[in-house]
Amino acid sequence: MKVVILEDANEVARYGADIFERQLAHKADSVFGLATGSTPVALYRELIERHQRESLSFAGVTTFNLDEYLGLPPEHPQSYRYFMQQHLFDHIDIRPESTFVPSGDADHPIEACDEYEARIRNAGGIDVQLLGIGRNGHIGFNEPTSCLTSRTRIKTLTRETIDDNARFFGPDEEQPHLSITMGIGTIMESRLVVLLATGASKAQAVKAMVEGPVSAWCPASILQMHPSTVLIVDEAAAGGLSNPEFFKHIERENQALLTRLGMV
Ligand code: GLP
Repeated sequence: MKVVILEDANEVARYGADIFERQLAHKADSVFGLATGSTPVALYRELIERHQRESLSFAGVTTFNLDEYLGLPPEHPQSYRYFMQQHLFDHIDIRPESTFVPSGDADHPIEACDEYEARIRNAGGIDVQLLGIGRNGHIGFNEPTSCLTSRTRIKTLTRETIDDNARFFGPDEEQPHLSITMGIGTIMESRLVVLLATGASKAQAVKAMVEGPVSAWCPASILQMHPSTVLIVDEAAAGGLSNPEFFKHIERENQALLTRLGMV
């Protein structure tokens, strides 16, 4: 796992956006796996700016979101479909029919999970999967104890995750306790995984992910087994790591090597 430690959340967003921009330069019809939560918002803002400023185009792109609340229709302001429209899709040139989010109001949600998997497969698999991380180490809505080879399915949320996400819901709004989420096995099949974490509240989860045992208690720790994962963190989220200087040293060495090879 490559660990990149940067000064602050803005730098994290820019570094992440650079990865997406490079991927688009290399493959205009890339398949992106996308995430919700507050962490990726700055990266989406950066991509929108690049679209407006530099005509970075998403016209050939297909996207698959990680998860959705079970029971929320797409037009519900707390649904992840609504979130994606607001924070990204409505501001770029992506074709609406190429954006997929698990459907929270499917008549047959179990079948809908299998169909989602088939759609990802038919699109040729995910080139770059963006992830955030929950304070308990969850990715997507794969909560601790999730099967490490799981596929898209219905998952029960933990009390901790419900409480963490309660800030998005009004006092009288009912907050779902169930979700549809891509599985850990689904995520592990992505060619490149980019996980963003910012703020001190993520420091313990980041430490468990990077240094802890690979364990269903910290679903993100499975990424130690992924051949191509980039973890991008700010100083605060890196605060629990035993040896952050080593990762900074590696990054400097990598940059020097790329410069020497004329690759930057
Ligand atoms: C939710 C999402 C996750 C996200 C997590 C952290 O539970 N399902 O995909 O990573 O929240 O969100 P935040 O970035 O707001 O801390």
